[in-house]
Amino acid sequence: MVNDLGAKREEYFAGTIRHVETTENSAVFMCDNRVGLKVEAISNHILRFKYTTDGKFSRDFSYALNPDRQPAGVKLKVKALPDHFRITTKDLICTVSNQGLTTRILDKSGTVLNEDEKGFHWEEHKKYGGDIVKMSKVIQPNEFFYGLGDKPDNMNLRDKRFQNWGSDTYGYKKGTDPLYKNINFFMGLHRKQAYGIFFDNTFRTSFDFGKERSTVSSFWAQGGTMEYYFIYGPSLTQVVEKYTTLTGPPELPPLWALGYHQCKWSYYPESVVKNLAKGFRDRKIPCDALYLDIDYMDGFRCFTWSPTHFPDPKRLVQELKEDGFKMVVIIDPGIKVDHEYPVYQEGVENDYFCRRADGPLYKGTVWPGLCHFPDFTREEVRTWWAGLFKGLIAETGVKGVWNDMNEPAVFEIGTFPNDVRHDFDGEPGSHRKAHNIYGMQMARATYHGVKQFSYPDRPFTITRSGYAGVQRYASAWTGDNIASWDHLWLANIQCQRLSISGMSFVGSDIGGFIETPDGELYIRWLQLGIFHPFCRTHSSGDHGDQEPWSFGEPYTSLARKFIELRYQLLPYLYTTFWQYTSRGTPMLRPLALLDQNDPECYHRMAEFSLGDNLVVCPITQPGVEGRIMYLPQGHWYNFWTDELALGKREIWVDAPLTKVPMFVKAGAVLPLYPVQQYVGELAVPEVTLHVYYSQQTCVSELYEDGGEGYGYAEGNFLNKTFQTSAENGVFTVAQERTGAGTDGYQNYNVIIHGLPAPTSSVLVDGQEIEWEVTADTNLLSLKVPSDFKTLQLQGTATGKK
Ligand code: NOJ
Repeated sequence: MVNDLGAKREEYFAGTIRHVETTENSAVFMCDNRVGLKVEAISNHILRFKYTTDGKFSRDFSYALNPDRQPAGVKLKVKALPDHFRITTKDLICTVSNQGLTTRILDKSGTVLNEDEKGFHWEEHKKYGGDIVKMSKVIQPNEFFYGLGDKPDNMNLRDKRFQNWGSDTYGYKKGTDPLYKNINFFMGLHRKQAYGIFFDNTFRTSFDFGKERSTVSSFWAQGGTMEYYFIYGPSLTQVVEKYTTLTGPPELPPLWALGYHQCKWSYYPESVVKNLAKGFRDRKIPCDALYLDIDYMDGFRCFTWSPTHFPDPKRLVQELKEDGFKMVVIIDPGIKVDHEYPVYQEGVENDYFCRRADGPLYKGTVWPGLCHFPDFTREEVRTWWAGLFKGLIAETGVKGVWNDMNEPAVFEIGTFPNDVRHDFDGEPGSHRKAHNIYGMQMARATYHGVKQFSYPDRPFTITRSGYAGVQRYASAWTGDNIASWDHLWLANIQCQRLSISGMSFVGSDIGGFIETPDGELYIRWLQLGIFHPFCRTHSSGDHGDQEPWSFGEPYTSLARKFIELRYQLLPYLYTTFWQYTSRGTPMLRPLALLDQNDPECYHRMAEFSLGDNLVVCPITQPGVEGRIMYLPQGHWYNFWTDELALGKREIWVDAPLTKVPMFVKAGAVLPLYPVQQYVGELAVPEVTLHVYYSQQTCVSELYEDGGEGYGYAEGNFLNKTFQTSAENGVFTVAQERTGAGTDGYQNYNVIIHGLPAPTSSVLVDGQEIEWEVTADTNLLSLKVPSDFKTLQLQGTATGKK
């Protein structure tokens, strides 16, 4: 047999356990053939499995793990039984066989969650200085698989095989693999229970979910150590939360970063950018950020400006700022080989660039021509790189940085040759080991630079490539897609998948990067994009224009309508973002995360929720007036009509081009802002609470802070919960508030949707107040002091909703 690299294939296995050593939270099993396994309890729900083939464990080092995580201080018990050892934490049981070190993980009731097939085994791979480390597991009955980052494929990964090796995949298609990102995290769901596996290995990795052998899943890497984390749910959402907490959620972004962004390759010269800004304000289409792609630079030299196209960037940035725009610029990793260029000079003088195995600096061709590439796996290089942002951020006033081409991409040959050396933070190795974390380490250095020079404002960064944990440093987009209906479908799946892989701050190039959409496709894409945490139109610009007004009427008005909706949704989006940063909860949730007891949800792909209370189902076909969609359990209000629909069934939804299927959970309180042309246009936007009547008790959250700066770290935030309930003919909304912040506004506008019966009186904290019922819509509206404790509607809670 021949392996992936063409060598003769011989597999090796663990022998028999001869020695066991335990500490409070770990157990080491050593076999007679020097193969060892260390099991460590990271928490009661997370176990780390680390193997060795030569009696010594590799250093504990990970680019993925959250450096700020707190040790959980958990205890592990180990018991020797006739043919295996049994390890227990408060919530898990793990058995390790004496012969072959195969493991089995069960919950406390004895249900198998995950079990090894062959377990750990390997092939020697001496030529490249390591082993191909492999793990195989038994696929459980009816097991579904999710995760793995940006894979452009069906939501359920069952019966498929994938690789992670960051690649510049211009114009990828459904099924293209690998893509830009390297997220070695997946989840299994069976018997209504979910677990996750994070394989922390930076070499080229592969995953098989029953494609080769229908009852076996496996994962392996072309080098390094077999080291993985088993994460117990039991719900999918809990698995994602725990994985995200393990690898670290991001900080809150500035609120403006959740506004609408406009990009093209490229807007230049300065007059074009000014005209673009005017285009938004003249037409009253909200927008917060304008992007400069590579042509703003002087000959594609990073950290420079073209003197002809942008003679006075500081003035331009200031003028745009006065109009509410923030500027974001692209920075690539390739530094032009040019002896007159200071960044090149500094890099060479200080030996910051990557070298070939035999010593010379590595040269590869990208936009500027021949380039050297910083070795971002060295602390010193990251610090230097961070310092380079002083000019752009502190001196010129640029607000965000977009890292591209960081797979790393090199023209013609794809990426660096394998022999290129990297420091890997003190454990030097070849590009085989560093390739998959190169982009993340670039994003890390960029983030620290932007943060350092933006302070006390919050930084904003985006990246195309990344490894697990990259979400700590940057938002991301899905790369070079195409203006086609297939790609709109893919954008939906990819963003959901990234979100359940720890990366919620994601979006696609709205309208498609390659080629030009027609008006209908552009609007349908916007109708999806406004629900993605990162909301940006981008295009390669060489085919046609792709501004929200480029398609004429009725499309301009429709684009305005949906971008306005995005701005109205900001308090809800920001709250959802806060749930992500504080609990690791994914912002976009496929239906499988909404109801794990409903198998119909397991393979649904089009429908998703944004946060706790909105379910959306984009239209991804031309010429349709609606679609069939599946609503998860519960009652849901059609956002556009207030019609109530019962979930756990397929329904038909009308969705002419003026609407996107969008439902609000019954009982929810949805906070909306008035429309603004940019974040901060209104010093204190009033909040309207849209309350959707339900007989079931429901709790909604609203998180508020300054939307900028770090006041929240000193307690300057408000975290509000709204509990709705209906009892004895009274519908009640109860508010609780924590945090030392102020909301700045005196009153909420409250609009109650779906009341089943007329109201006889409305009480706020026991006092009767005035209200108004809109005759045609039957909506009840009122103004309530923002610190109210209870809002009671009497005589309303009689119907059956
Ligand atoms: C490739 C990126 O994916 C794209 O977004 C960008 O416009 C071009 N590089 C040019 O910088």
